Amino acid sequence: MGRFMRGAEERHPSVPHESPTESPTESPTEPGESGQFPVGERDHGWLDADEPAAPEASADAWTTCSSAYQAFAAGLTRPFAWDAVRLVRIETGSRVLDVATGTGEFAIAAAERGADVLATDFSASMLELVERSPRRPPIGTIRTALMDGQALALDSHAFDAAGSLFGLVFFPNPARGLAEIYRVLKPGGQAVIATWAIPAHVELMRIVGDALMQLDSQLPERESPQSLWTSLSSPRRLTQLMCDAGFRSVHVVALAHVWTFEHVDLFARSVLQMTPSWMDLYRSMTAAQKAGFTRALVHSFRERQGNGPYAVTAQGLVAVGTKDR
Ligand SMILES: C[S@@+](CC[C@H](N)C(=O)[O-])C[C@H]1O[C@@H](n2cnc3c(N)ncnc32)[C@H](O)[C@@H]1O
Repeated sequence: MGRFMRGAEERHPSVPHESPTESPTESPTEPGESGQFPVGERDHGWLDADEPAAPEASADAWTTCSSAYQAFAAGLTRPFAWDAVRLVRIETGSRVLDVATGTGEFAIAAAERGADVLATDFSASMLELVERSPRRPPIGTIRTALMDGQALALDSHAFDAAGSLFGLVFFPNPARGLAEIYRVLKPGGQAVIATWAIPAHVELMRIVGDALMQLDSQLPERESPQSLWTSLSSPRRLTQLMCDAGFRSVHVVALAHVWTFEHVDLFARSVLQMTPSWMDLYRSMTAAQKAGFTRALVHSFRERQGNGPYAVTAQGLVAVGTKDR
């Protein structure tokens, strides 16, 4: 049995990672952390002002990825949304904001609890997917609005709860996104923020990374998209960012979920079209490189899991914080 299945068996759906804190504790727990890090908008290497913007900073780039994102990645984030709505107080009639909603996983889960949800994103085609979703629940309401999560065109003190799942991490300035969420929450309102754990715990990134490595010498030099996906993968860093935005009772929970699928060929052909950095890479590949990547990925899954169903384990961090009354 390969490491892939071992990961799936090790699934532990709701493992508390850090106990509630008013401010971050001192000792770093992640490998490679020095214990000191700059806090706030220059927290992430890829965000330096003189660096070119990551492809994820572009709404058009996400629009291009929206179909593949819906087909695959949304299933990966959905169970985290089910957890997220249980980690904040959402009741019938609660006003809830979803920032960087994508296919609306958090918005739908909140509406299922009877909330009136505003789902926002800077990609119009993502919002169309939310509007057309057959999964919109019969209770609650979901409205959509096109806006940048770093400059919400919304009144202050308007929402009982807000979530941003696997979205804030892609903002050029996540601290600014958090400050905006804080501003629009009512006093006592709660925010829930999800990010990916380090790549070693996010099997999809590792498997895709391994398949790309097999072609590596033939591929153009570029920064690994993994560094971006996981730029907020430290519980301590995430906690500090939340506290700096003004949140209190901040705590981070580590969650793992298994995502399954049947059609490994389709998956292997589409996976690099799910997210802008991978899409950039995909577009730079020759037909032979794409075919080589697809072969390597299919081989990797078949070797581990035979004829399927195929399973990928993902570990994320979910941070919760409350705005002072
Ligand atoms: C990885 S998807 C996550 C979607 C969804 N929240 C989920 O959990 O599946 C990232 C989403 O963030 C959106 N996004 C990225 N930067 C944004 C920004 N500055 N303002 C608003 N939305 C943004 C993208 O359009 C995309 O829909």
